[in-house]
Amino acid sequence: MINILDKTFVPFISKEEIETRITELAASISRDYKDSCPVFLVVLNGAFLFASELVKRIPLSCEITFIRVSSYSKTESTGEVKEIIGIDKNLANRDIIIIEDIVDTGLTMSQLISKVWEKSPKSVEVATLLHKPESLKTPIELRYTGFKIGNKFVVGYGLDYDEIGRNLDSIYALE
Ligand code: IMP
Repeated sequence: MINILDKTFVPFISKEEIETRITELAASISRDYKDSCPVFLVVLNGAFLFASELVKRIPLSCEITFIRVSSYSKTESTGEVKEIIGIDKNLANRDIIIIEDIVDTGLTMSQLISKVWEKSPKSVEVATLLHKPESLKTPIELRYTGFKIGNKFVVGYGLDYDEIGRNLDSIYALE
């Protein structure tokens, strides 16, 4: 058990389980994009750990770039996506893989996907470490998903509770 600010979290997904799953996702992406030079769009802050573990297992020539969106306050999704920063790169005719930490309501991701399509890419897919299918408020296709989880609040492996907990090397769930 760990305490972060006013809340208690319990172990949920171990470091070993996460790493095994990331290795599998990396193998799928490497296979699917073997004839491409994809652009990984890493959604900061939460996806930084997942992205670094994922891309170092993908032996393709590729580009990696970083964007920022924010829609979450403390433990509840606000549904409002603020400005997307850093999407100024030329993505025309490129294969894009958005790397995200978690898809909860899906509102952030669906707006992000629309914004990326405005840049006339060849394709857009999503790799997310976690997905909460029960919370989804908009239909969304997630090609690469690490773990589907129930509607619980989690921290660790990049995910935070009020900015704390991102450095934990495994995932914890709110008790
Ligand atoms: P969505 O728009 O509701 O899908 O929210 C996506 C964003 O909310 C993610 O990128 C996370 O930053 C944040 N988020 C959603 N669920 C959790 C959670 O369980 N723990 C920490 N952050 C979360």
